[in-house]
Amino acid sequence: MRMIMAPMRGYTDAVFREVWSRHFTGLDEAVAPFISLHKASEVSLKTLGELGQKGTFSLPVTPQMLGNQPEAFLDLARLLADQGYTELNWNLGCPFPMVAKKARGSGLLCHPDRVDAFLERVCAASPVEVSVKIRLGRQRKEEMEAIVPILNRYPLSRVMVHPRIGTQMYTGRPDLAGFERFRAACHHPLVYNGDIWSQRDFTGLTRRFPGITSWMLGRGLLADPFLAERLRGGFRGEREETLARFVAFYEELEAAYAARLSGPSHLLARMKGWWACFHQSFTEGERFFRKIRKIENLEAFGKAVQAFWDAEPDWQFSPNEGWVEEAEGKGMNKEA
Ligand SMILES: Cc1cc2nc3c(=O)[nH]c(=O)nc-3n(C[C@H](O)[C@H](O)[C@H](O)COP(=O)(O)O)c2cc1C
Repeated sequence: MRMIMAPMRGYTDAVFREVWSRHFTGLDEAVAPFISLHKASEVSLKTLGELGQKGTFSLPVTPQMLGNQPEAFLDLARLLADQGYTELNWNLGCPFPMVAKKARGSGLLCHPDRVDAFLERVCAASPVEVSVKIRLGRQRKEEMEAIVPILNRYPLSRVMVHPRIGTQMYTGRPDLAGFERFRAACHHPLVYNGDIWSQRDFTGLTRRFPGITSWMLGRGLLADPFLAERLRGGFRGEREETLARFVAFYEELEAAYAARLSGPSHLLARMKGWWACFHQSFTEGERFFRKIRKIENLEAFGKAVQAFWDAEPDWQFSPNEGWVEEAEGKGMNKEA
C-alpha cells in the first residue's frame, strides 16, 4: 500500500513537508503543489522554487505542472530530469473558475482534443514519466467517457483521481460510483483521492475498491497530521504523548515559517491558515479558532495558542467520520 500527501497550494509547501516528515510517519510520497506555466520560455531554475534539489527532503516529492502548453511541460520536465526527478504530474483537476475558464486544470476536461494533443506531444518527448491528476469532469461526470480512452492511449505512469466534478469545487461527497466507472475503463494504475478523514472512511474505501493500492490524503491529513500513521495502524494515541508530539510539530512549523517569511503579519496569516485546518482535531477547536482568527498581533496570538496547549485540549479526530457507509446506505456507491 502506498500513501501520498496531496498537493495543496498554500499548505503542503517545502516547509510543511519537511517539518511534517520529522514528526510523523505513514506517508511514502508527496505530490508538490502545482507549478503554473503559461508558456515554455517561463521555465528556469527559479521556476522550481521551493521544490529545490531532489533529495533534500526525507519524503520523496513528485512535482506537478498546471497549464495547457506541451512545450512548457517539456521544458519543465527537462529541468526536473537534470535535477534527478523521474516523474512530472499534469494537473487536470484544478476547479477554480479563473483557471478553468482558460482551459487549464479541470477546464481541459471538456476539451478532449486538447488533452489528446498535449499528451501526444509530451509523452513522445518527456525525459521523465508523465502522470495526471484528474477529476471526473468539469461540468458533468460523463465527460470522463471521452477522456479515459485518450488517457489509455498513452504510457502514463499513473492516474490520480479525485471523484468530483470541477464545478462542484469541494461540495458534496466524492462520487464513488463515478470512481468505479473510471476505474473499470482506465488501464493505468490508479490513485484514489477524496475525503479520507478517518480510519472508518478508509476501511470503507478499501473494502469498496480492493484493487486500489495507492491512496492520497489531502484535507484530512492537514486537519490531523497523525492521519497516515493512524490509517497504517501505527498510532498509539496516548493523550499526553499525542499532545506533546503535536505541540513539538506545531512549534517547529511556526519557527520554520518565521525563518522563511518576511515580517510578523505574514507569519500570523500563515499560522491562522494552519489553524483553519488544525482546529478540526480538537473538541474546543472551533471556538478557539473563532477567537484567534480575530487576533491581529503575533505576540497575543502566540499567547492564546500557548494557553490552549496549557489547557490540555481534548482530541476529536475524524470530524467527518462515516460518510462512506452513509453513501453505501443510500445506494450512492452503486452504479445505476
Ligand atoms: C487549498 C487547496 C489547495 C490545493 N492545491 C492543489 C494543487 O496545487 N494541485 C492539485 O492537484 N490539487 C490541489 N488541491 C486538491 C487536493 O490535492 C485534493 O485533490 C483535494 O483536496 C481532495 O482531496 P481531500 O478530500 O483528501 O482533501 C488543492 C485543494 C485545496 C483545498
